Amino acid sequence: MATICVHNTAVAKIGIFYIVFYSVLAALVAVCMWVFFQTLDPRIPKWQMDQSLIGTNPGLGFRPLPSEDNVESTLIWYKGTEEKNYKMWTDALDDFLQDYRTPGQVLGRGQNIYNCDYSQPPPKGMVCEVDIKQYGPCTLENHYNYHKSAPCIFLKLNKIYGWVPDFYNDSSSLPNNMPTDLKEYIKEKEQKEQHTMNTVWVSCEGENAADIENVGQIQYYPRRGFPGYYYPYENSEGYLSPLVAVHFERPVRGIIINVECKAWAHNIKHDRHERMGTVHFELMID
Ligand SMILES: *[C@@H]1O[C@H](CO)[C@@H](O)[C@H](O)[C@H]1NC(C)=O
Repeated sequence: MATICVHNTAVAKIGIFYIVFYSVLAALVAVCMWVFFQTLDPRIPKWQMDQSLIGTNPGLGFRPLPSEDNVESTLIWYKGTEEKNYKMWTDALDDFLQDYRTPGQVLGRGQNIYNCDYSQPPPKGMVCEVDIKQYGPCTLENHYNYHKSAPCIFLKLNKIYGWVPDFYNDSSSLPNNMPTDLKEYIKEKEQKEQHTMNTVWVSCEGENAADIENVGQIQYYPRRGFPGYYYPYENSEGYLSPLVAVHFERPVRGIIINVECKAWAHNIKHDRHERMGTVHFELMID
């Protein structure tokens, strides 16, 4: 009888000890987490611009990306006459543009879309519409023109919280290494559409003399750059990056064409190895 009693109180003591022990532990963890979250805002990154690992120099990206099992590859290779063959690329673009096609897909998008313009930047908390109907031949219905062996590639500037572009908005101070056709385009815009000068300009060209020859005419939709009113990106709900659809109108077939695209603003440095402000890919259309 006595032994059972002793045994019971011992068990009870151990039980109480563990209950208290774990409660204190849980309370400590809770306090730590609470203190930690007090220092954070879910919408605003703690480390921004120069303090952050991403830095202040945005990268440029392209879509469609070659398949995931070959991440190093930047070759877009297909046969225009075979749907089976180019479908992989157009499907990838369908996926990528999904969010752009259906407002409401992205959380909060739909309620706070603002009809932005150069003279009408979005108010705080609102986001600008990205209208994919303005991409000329580069639409889903048109298979992004892959079937005509004149594919569209989409360009996108990587998002950096709070980054404000320093525009090339004066044609008298363009950098020497800017492609001549872009310089001319900017001069023309300055004369005819002065209000659109606050744009992050975009250029694509063949890399070597042969590539320049082979890549042929290039068109940009809806315009040749990313309009300034999309910046700065402040993680507002439903924000979508603006896109430039690059249409290669008549690339030579059966040969690899090296293409380099660049984004242009005073505060975008170009570094191919760091993948800053520039992107490289190859086209091969059989
Ligand atoms: C030109 O760009 C600079 C730097 O981005 C900006 O401060 C300035 O207001 C722009 N000029 C015009 C006329 O918009």
